[in-house]
Amino acid sequence: MDYISLSITVIAFSTLLMGCKEKAPQPGEKIWLANCKVCHETGLAGAPVIGNQAAWVKRINRGTDSLYEHAISGWGDMPARGGNTELSDSEVKQAVDYMISKSK
Ligand code: HEC
Repeated sequence: MDYISLSITVIAFSTLLMGCKEKAPQPGEKIWLANCKVCHETGLAGAPVIGNQAAWVKRINRGTDSLYEHAISGWGDMPARGGNTELSDSEVKQAVDYMISKSK
């Protein structure tokens, strides 16, 4: 392989990698879409809507641990683990992290 085609290959490959990095969804996004969206996108059952800063600021200020705990164990009309007992603690936390990152 000559120098030019090698450079082109390297550039093409790094562009590809960069593209993947930008588009890579946060780990919690898939979990959120499958388990939390149904309430947290529309406000169903009084759920704080994702992206609505006013609905989230007080909750976020209370501290992430409190949000994790309520998401895992349930709180008011928020069902434990969004109603999916198959989710691990860490999966629930990832979904919470995703929702918080979109709601600040
Ligand atoms: C059946 C509807 C429903 C589903 C599904 C649901 N939630 Fe909720 N969630 C609620 C409601 C309602 C509240 C508000 C509870 C309150 O403030 O009393 C809430 C509140 C929360 C809060 C804020 C708790 C706090 O301490 O203020 C977090 C965090 C949360 N949900 C995370 C999640 C995650 C993560 C999922 C998916 C794994 C999920 N929810 C799925 C209805 C739902």
